[in-house]
Amino acid sequence: MMRGTAFSVAETGRAPGYERISVAPVSGVLGADVDGVDLGTGLDDQVVEEIHRAFLDHHVLFFRNQELTPEAQMAFGRRFGELGTHPFVAGRSDHPEVIELVTEPDDKVNFGGGWHTDVTFLEEPDLGSILYAVEVPPYGGDTLFADQQAAYEALPEATRVKLDGLVALHSPVPQYGVGGYSTQSRSMQTTNADGTDRATRHPVVRTHPETGRKGLYVNRAFTIGIDGMPPDESARLLEKLFAQATREAFTCRFRWRPGSLAMWDNRCVQHYALHDYKGWRRHMRRITICGDRPR
Ligand code: SIN
Repeated sequence: MMRGTAFSVAETGRAPGYERISVAPVSGVLGADVDGVDLGTGLDDQVVEEIHRAFLDHHVLFFRNQELTPEAQMAFGRRFGELGTHPFVAGRSDHPEVIELVTEPDDKVNFGGGWHTDVTFLEEPDLGSILYAVEVPPYGGDTLFADQQAAYEALPEATRVKLDGLVALHSPVPQYGVGGYSTQSRSMQTTNADGTDRATRHPVVRTHPETGRKGLYVNRAFTIGIDGMPPDESARLLEKLFAQATREAFTCRFRWRPGSLAMWDNRCVQHYALHDYKGWRRHMRRITICGDRPR
């Protein structure tokens, strides 16, 4: 009998509806392990369609035991859209779209070490990111993911109605301005955001362009205020939303091994790279897929 069509997830741990890949949810809200695919080979359209469907259903996908050159990782990413470059973090000289995320044993700060959604200070933030593990510490260095649609849907209806019309301001300055957190990583080459960079406006509640589901779209790293709201009130509301967005019930956690790959939907997921492996090196390779303007 064909996998995925005849058994329910309760009987097999596998999500039904997939014929060419195997998809096993890892938590009640987001994340799935995907088996049965070698991402380094030219994937046919049906496999790409199934990965895309799993991505929309589970918001972050985990693959194991992949052997990917930077070129193969880029070729995989391009099946889902155009690749982006980071405005403040240098990519590889041969492939500017590829960022080598390195934390050396004595680094005090790691890249991505706080809850965030990638580059929300851009008018068109990345659709998603594809992160590949080259070298991992013997323990620690996990990445946490939080589902922003589950966080939004769990709010009382009156709160959801109140949030629906609000617009938030996003800025790179807290992370990439002079002395900003992300510029303190000694192993990464960053340039500074200009302190005069104007804030970008995005809805507090984002409607996913492919599924139509609504989710929170504010994050502690880049969201600096609510448009038109007095600073005190805005700060109080944002604190509540940041806490709601990352409640344990809306998260899953990924343990990396060399050759692991995670692919997340930046339109409805926040993530957090833990730095609990002082004295060890961690080396990841990241590409991003260009996105659209949040609505
Ligand atoms: C990131 O924020 O993209 C980095 C995540 C990680 O290194 O786990």
